Amino acid sequence: MLKIALSKGRILEETLPLLAHAGIIPVDDPNKSRKLILDTNLDDVKLVIIRAADVPTYVEYGAADVGISGKDVLMEHDSSELYEPLDLKIAKCRLMVAGKVNEQLPTHRRLRIATKFVKITQRFFAQQAQQVEIIKLYGSMELAPLVGLADQIVDVVDTGNTLRANGLEPKAHIADISSRLVVNKAAFKTNHAKIQQLIQKLAEAVR
Ligand code: ATP
Ligand code: PRP
Repeated sequence: MLKIALSKGRILEETLPLLAHAGIIPVDDPNKSRKLILDTNLDDVKLVIIRAADVPTYVEYGAADVGISGKDVLMEHDSSELYEPLDLKIAKCRLMVAGKVNEQLPTHRRLRIATKFVKITQRFFAQQAQQVEIIKLYGSMELAPLVGLADQIVDVVDTGNTLRANGLEPKAHIADISSRLVVNKAAFKTNHAKIQQLIQKLAEAVR
């Protein structure tokens, strides 16, 4: 059995054509089904549908053999227990620091940064030798500077439309992001042929 962990939304949408190239097609429409484990046309391949931020955890513990996860999520998860053999070049965006267009940064206290990427933010500002206060949020980070919760945010940016619509602009670039195939280390050994074939087929599809 090969269990592939995926999140609904843009990763699922952009992954389905790649999986189809690898000969893997879900039986039910994943966008309509409420099932969390989806059968595919192959008896020995299942799709496990979970929240984006949980994919590395499932793969790390071997609850899924492989998974597809944004590099942002992987950087935040920060595990040495996962192989990352393939850049799928989907769900591309950039991790940025952003703030108000005419921001006035405080001089008498630490900068407050709102983000769901606490570890990435800690590491980035530490590299800049800047001490900041991090405010953990779970979404809609763009709101935080508008209502005085934080001075700046760290979030992913694609078109920049969300920043512009809220009077924000990028202030610093942290990393280019795309989604990666991740593999459980033990599964890579015990299920080597099947996983190697999947990697090869997906690599072809990406090309
Ligand atoms: P959840 O919906 O569970 O809160 P999420 O919002 O991170 O999680 P998605 O929005 O589906 O889930 O994003 C999945 C991945 O897609 C992210 O980890 C990131 O790598 C990438 N991504 C996020 N936003 C964009 C975007 N606007 N454009 C392109 N890629 C994006
Ligand atoms: C993501 C991200 C930004 C937005 C950036 O949110 O959190 O808000 O995309 O994209 P843009 O630069 O093209 O505007 P998403 O739309 O995924 O909503 P979410 O809050 O559900 O993650």
